[in-house]
Amino acid sequence: MDKNNQVAPIATSQEEATRTDLAGRLSQEQHRQDVADLALAKEFEEVTSRLKDFSPPKLPQPNGPTKSELTQAMRLLISDLGARYSQNRVSLENFERYHPAQAKVLSEACQLAKHLTEFVLAGRGLILHGSVGTGKDQIMAALLYRAVSEHSLSVRWVNGLDLFGAVRDGMDDGRKEIDFFRTWSAPAILAISDPIPPLRDPSAWNIEILYRLIDRRYRNNKSTWMTLNAASVEEADEKLSAPVFDRLKEDAVILRCFWPSYRERQKKRA
Ligand SMILES: Nc1ncnc2c1ncn2[C@@H]1O[C@H](COP(=O)(O)OP(=O)(O)O)[C@@H](O)[C@H]1O
Ligand SMILES: [Mg+2]
Repeated sequence: MDKNNQVAPIATSQEEATRTDLAGRLSQEQHRQDVADLALAKEFEEVTSRLKDFSPPKLPQPNGPTKSELTQAMRLLISDLGARYSQNRVSLENFERYHPAQAKVLSEACQLAKHLTEFVLAGRGLILHGSVGTGKDQIMAALLYRAVSEHSLSVRWVNGLDLFGAVRDGMDDGRKEIDFFRTWSAPAILAISDPIPPLRDPSAWNIEILYRLIDRRYRNNKSTWMTLNAASVEEADEKLSAPVFDRLKEDAVILRCFWPSYRERQKKRA
């Protein structure tokens, strides 16, 4: 009985059957998800254990990071990127090609992978933009692993929205804002995954934080990379604001990822 003293209608046998069917399908879906999570967790463990054998092959920059700093950078990268973007999953060689536009992007990414040292020391940036699920973060992750393991560069990867969350947490804990900007300005490459919130435009505060961070890196000639779910450079410019986007795209390599989503393709194939 509800608060208006009305008796709730009794479900018909048809409704009961629908509910049971739905509950069954949900539990099957949950089971499938659990199995997938378990597989990812195992893979992650395996990749993390291989970190013991990681040894940076060369230290090309006289004032570059030490071996132990690079091992720490690789450890952080593995942990930041998680199992989905683990090193053996996301290599450029493993990137499935199913659309003609992918060939150009992959060839540019492969070229870049070979020349990352010069590219990064010149403070150049990388922007991957396009539709959701096209592998932008996969390509960025592949290049980040190569940056550490083949070019001995210090890198960090962060989800754009987590970055804003980190500033808020710092404020709540009474930490100084400047420490936040110092931390994220330190690595030779900072890779930010999609700072545009999915269901709304970024707030003025989001833009201000991004601006302060990107401006600081720009002034120090540091390489900043970004993936963006934006249909065009104009849309990215409009959402991130000109002061942010102008600094980001100056001298940057821009890879346009416009092809059908890999996830959708997998669903159709299943
Ligand atoms: N061409 C591809 N080949 C293999 N896996 C892919 C490909 N494109 C995307 N994926 C996988 O699909 C998922 C979504 O890709 P992601 O890089 O997160 O897309 P985006 O950042 O463009 O939204 C990831 O698990 C990624 O590894
Ligand atoms: Mg992405």
